[in-house]
Amino acid sequence: MIRRPDGMRGATITGTGMYVPDRVLTNRDLEHMVETSDEWILERTGIRERRIAAPDQASSDLAVIAARRALESAGLAPKDVDQIVVATTTPDRYLPSCACTVQAKLGATRAAAYDVFAACSGFIYGLGIARGAIGTGQADTVLLIGVETLSRIVDYTDRNTCVLFGDGAGAAVLQPCPSGEGILAISMGSDGALGDVLEIPAGGSGLPASAETVQARGHFIKMRGRELFKVAVRAMEDSVRRTLEATGLAADEIDMLIPHQANRRILDAVQARLGLPDEKVIVNIERYGNTSSASIPISLDEVVREGRLKPGDHVGLVAFGGGATWGATLMRWTQVAPLKATMAIPAAAAGKAGS
Ligand SMILES: CC(C)(COP(=O)(O)OP(=O)(O)OC[C@H]1O[C@@H](n2cnc3c(N)ncnc32)[C@H](O)[C@@H]1OP(=O)(O)O)[C@@H](O)C(=O)NCCC(=O)NCCS
Repeated sequence: MIRRPDGMRGATITGTGMYVPDRVLTNRDLEHMVETSDEWILERTGIRERRIAAPDQASSDLAVIAARRALESAGLAPKDVDQIVVATTTPDRYLPSCACTVQAKLGATRAAAYDVFAACSGFIYGLGIARGAIGTGQADTVLLIGVETLSRIVDYTDRNTCVLFGDGAGAAVLQPCPSGEGILAISMGSDGALGDVLEIPAGGSGLPASAETVQARGHFIKMRGRELFKVAVRAMEDSVRRTLEATGLAADEIDMLIPHQANRRILDAVQARLGLPDEKVIVNIERYGNTSSASIPISLDEVVREGRLKPGDHVGLVAFGGGATWGATLMRWTQVAPLKATMAIPAAAAGKAGS
């Protein structure tokens, strides 16, 4: 548990942005690809459709669009950014980092750029890093992005996984704020003993890529979903409770909870355990599926642009993912810089940028 040490600056979100690719993959489409049904997917997961990146779109391309929108909403230019932190499991390449590629495409020439590798919990872990950097004065402006092109690592012959995942990007700008505002508490946890419950077996130093690993479909996500389900519910509830404990707030003082969109039934169980009413819990999994590290910042940008958050609101963010990893943060919402019209998308990306 990380508490705000005396004398450290606070950190808050001053801008948000998101982007999802145009192409929609519906449950009906999946019926033609594997033995499944719209009814099964909807009932067991809450998902109706998900977005799929165009063949020429890598994670950095999605990230850059979300990042420009977040910077614009914060009233900042790329050169104002001190650090770029990209949470992703699907970087364009393993070397260089996705963040360095994003830096070059954005023209954020002053920034230090690096990736965080914490699967679906990456955005929460990134908030912890950003808060530390701002709190200690290492950075004044951190651009935090959660981005995934999971369609590149999903096996579309495996019905256990291919119905769940989608592509997208969300971004947030973090800047200093008075103590007692912005991020009030962050809780993070991991259990590496659960590593093989959700994994990509091949392609790393343990099992490098070879003709055999490709043949064995070892570069795709493998998941034992039933085993993850209970752990996810417990870890997400526990993470939120830790942030409540750290801040002295009660669960009913949470004005909005934005959970990682893993499975509708997981979200329902977490909501019930915390005793929160429907209107306080953000669910958009029916439109995007599970976009891993992107799901929280995508949801956050949607509620900000809909005007659903006001200064002083207590906002909880909570995630669970591969690793296993989990975490939550509790924020006292501050004023995001006034949103201007969504900025023009660069010509090269025009036509791909639907959202
Ligand atoms: C994956 C998940 C949706 C499966 O739902 P479930 O209710 O646990 O389903 P089960 O795994 O028990 O499978 C039930 C049956 O449906 C079948 N099934 C699995 N996927 C199916 C699909 N897409 N369509 C139709 N049937 C399917 C199974 O083969 C099984 O059949 P059987 O009883 O004949 O063996 C669910 O376990 C889940 O969401 N887990 C968490 C996953 C997660 O969040 N991962 C990311 C972490 S961020």
